[in-house]
Amino acid sequence: MRLGIIPEGFIDCIALASGKMPTPLVKSFWGVALGRTLIAGTRLGVFEVLSEGEKTAEEVAQDTGCNPEGMETLLNALNGFGYLKRRNGRYSITKQTAKWLTESSSSSIRDAIMFLFELWNDFSDIERAVKSGKIKDFHFRDRPPEFWEHYIRGLATFARYNGPEIVRKVSPIKKPRRLLDVGGGHGMYSIAFCRKYPDLQVEVLDLPGAVIQGKRIVKEQGFQDKIQFREGDLRVTEWGDDYDIILLFNIIHNVSYKEAPEIFIKAYQALSSYGMVVLLDSEHVGGEKDLSTTSGFNELLFFVINGCRVYPEETIRKWMIEAGFTNLKKGKLLTLPMTLFLTGYK
Ligand SMILES: C[S@@+](CC[C@H](N)C(=O)[O-])C[C@H]1O[C@@H](n2cnc3c(N)ncnc32)[C@H](O)[C@@H]1O
Repeated sequence: MRLGIIPEGFIDCIALASGKMPTPLVKSFWGVALGRTLIAGTRLGVFEVLSEGEKTAEEVAQDTGCNPEGMETLLNALNGFGYLKRRNGRYSITKQTAKWLTESSSSSIRDAIMFLFELWNDFSDIERAVKSGKIKDFHFRDRPPEFWEHYIRGLATFARYNGPEIVRKVSPIKKPRRLLDVGGGHGMYSIAFCRKYPDLQVEVLDLPGAVIQGKRIVKEQGFQDKIQFREGDLRVTEWGDDYDIILLFNIIHNVSYKEAPEIFIKAYQALSSYGMVVLLDSEHVGGEKDLSTTSGFNELLFFVINGCRVYPEETIRKWMIEAGFTNLKKGKLLTLPMTLFLTGYK
């Protein structure tokens, strides 16, 4: 997926077609501006307040505890970006805003937007990181509980979308009894598997800050009897054995090139004789030619925040085969097309 410039009128169309408009300037200004404005609207509770009905800027300011003039400018910016409607001095949310950005909507991505605030704070260190190459893993900095709440609930948002599709596309040899969700955080992928296999017992292995949040989410969803949490560093903790399914979802980009092959060996050893591994990660086409937006950008993102890389599919397949996995299969997810989704059997 690529972001583009959409003209707002006839003159804009001509300007764009003329090739005279400095498009990198437009993208670097509006790209950051749009993202940061949406995050501010979410953090200040603007969409929640307006989900009650249309209001003036003064009313929204009062309901959110903000300055009226400041709020008016924020509402106008959100209107300009197409997230709010503005009629006779009153503001209301659009259908898309109601669907994606309000907390009460079943499609809400509000938690993910809250997490983006934390992410872009860390990412703003980009020049220092690229210059020095010295990065402390995002997960091992001193973080308050709110960070873990936004991080883990933010990721749970994605899992709500693609969890059911993944479960439909995973074919275990036998009905699975035990599943290990490595770096499983929120437990939402495990919940999706438990919904399909009611006798399944799950262990989620993750860092302490994530475990606190994951336990809460799993309890809210009513799966606390099926899903247990274990605190530990996935690189050093024993994983256990006799699992029928091991999930490695978005964790390979958190380990170094040296550590990654060992993760697949650990997975192989922890599986039962008919077990399978399921991998989900950021896609990377590899090779020497042009990259997709996801392949290119996510490499930079994970380098700046974790000091790690997104590894090309070919490299991941090689690590899986070297660990002993066979019959590797790649699936495509309509709910999240820019991911690498691979399964392999023991
Ligand atoms: C990007 S999140 C992925 C969460 C979940 N698997 C998913 O796909 O939505 C990475 C997860 O790995 C956990 N994690 C990162 N480094 C870890 C480590 N060294 N040991 C255990 N867990 C780790 C994080 O706390 C987080 O829950």
